Amino acid sequence: MTEDNRARIGILTVSDRASSGVYEDRGGPAVRAYLEEVLTSPWEGISRTVADDQHAIEAALVDLCDIQECCLVITTGGTGPAPRDVTPEATEAVCRKMMPGFGELMRHVSLAKVPTAILSRQLAGIRGGSLIVNLPGQPKAIAECLDAVFAAVPMCIDLIGGPYLTTDERRIVAFRPKH
Ligand code: MTE
Repeated sequence: MTEDNRARIGILTVSDRASSGVYEDRGGPAVRAYLEEVLTSPWEGISRTVADDQHAIEAALVDLCDIQECCLVITTGGTGPAPRDVTPEATEAVCRKMMPGFGELMRHVSLAKVPTAILSRQLAGIRGGSLIVNLPGQPKAIAECLDAVFAAVPMCIDLIGGPYLTTDERRIVAFRPKH
């Protein structure tokens, strides 16, 4: 959290071509647009772009989680089967705990949209007070995947000691069990 109580959210684009300027990053802006549409509590996005290099991805994740203190880090790209696709490996290497339900549900929902959804090895996990969620690189995959899991994200962030996130209920109803 920042001093003005804004939740910090990391947006990490993983792409050789976007990081070298060969093409414009469209995944990162799609994640930011999604969060702008869905979150009603104050937040600040911290965007980064790195190449498909495991050490570079791990370093960016560690920085966003430990130094920038992001409660949520969303990655886009590098989840497929190609030799350079290593975002899931980097995610697993920096997480203390994996959250397999996120990947399972995102792939399941994506499969109804595109048969190649099974090619994404997207994961999610916890590092300290941060939830890391991998998304594919396709800009249209961003909302398809986040719509599937976002109802559970605020509760997950409560459970790891993060800020209280609220959502626009016309878009996503954040589920918190009543005690
Ligand atoms: N999931 C959704 N919802 N929509 C998509 O278009 N593309 C698939 C898959 N998951 C896709 C998707 C494809 S074609 C690939 S190769 C994998 O994600 C991995 O993509 P990435 O390497 O860009 O992460």
